[in-house]
Amino acid sequence: MQFIQVKDYQQLCEVASQKIIQIVKKSPNSTLGLATGGTPEGIYRLLCKDHQQHGTSYQLVQTVNLDEYVGLAKDHPNSYHYYMQQHLFSKIDLPEHQAHIPNGLADDLEQECERYEQLIERLDGVDLQILGIGQNGHIGFNEPGTSFSSRTHIVKLAESTRLANQRFFHSIDEVPRYAITMGIGTIMKSKSILLLVNGVKKATVLRRLFEEEVHNQLPASILKHHPHVTIVADEEAASQLK
Ligand code: F6R
Repeated sequence: MQFIQVKDYQQLCEVASQKIIQIVKKSPNSTLGLATGGTPEGIYRLLCKDHQQHGTSYQLVQTVNLDEYVGLAKDHPNSYHYYMQQHLFSKIDLPEHQAHIPNGLADDLEQECERYEQLIERLDGVDLQILGIGQNGHIGFNEPGTSFSSRTHIVKLAESTRLANQRFFHSIDEVPRYAITMGIGTIMKSKSILLLVNGVKKATVLRRLFEEEVHNQLPASILKHHPHVTIVADEEAASQLK
């Protein structure tokens, strides 16, 4: 694992966006694995700015998102479809049919998981997967206890995750209980991974990631077995590291 410590969130976003831009420039038909949540917002802002100012093109790029809530329509303000549209897709030249997100409203959710897994295989896997981390160590929505070999599947969200995501909703009751997520096995097949960790709330989980053995109660710990992982963390997140 390569570890890059930066001063603050702004620097984290600069480092991460530059890595994405470099990959897209070098291999314009790359497949990018994308995340939602608070962490990547600033990165997407910089990608949009770079697209406007320098014309980096996403015409040939494919994107696959990590996850989507079950039961929210694509135009629901808290769906990840909506999030991606708002933060990135509407502001760059990525063709709509090349942006892939699990469909949390599919009639047959099991079949949707299978379709998504096959889609990723058809794209020849993810070239660069962007990851945030939950305070309980989840990656994607793979909560503690998830099998390391899991593929795209339906997950019951941990109450701690629902509480952490409550800030995006009016109340806890509105936070969905289920989601579709790429599995840990799916994520591990990515050719390279960029794990982004910022803010004091992530200090404990980052310390645990460094100190603890690989075990499935800390899903992100499996990343230690991946050959090409870069962790970028800001000072607050790194504050408990020795
Ligand atoms: C988002 C995702 C989650 C988040 C994690 C951190 O697509 O899969 O694993 O990356 O919950 O969320 P934030 O960035 O809001 O702290």
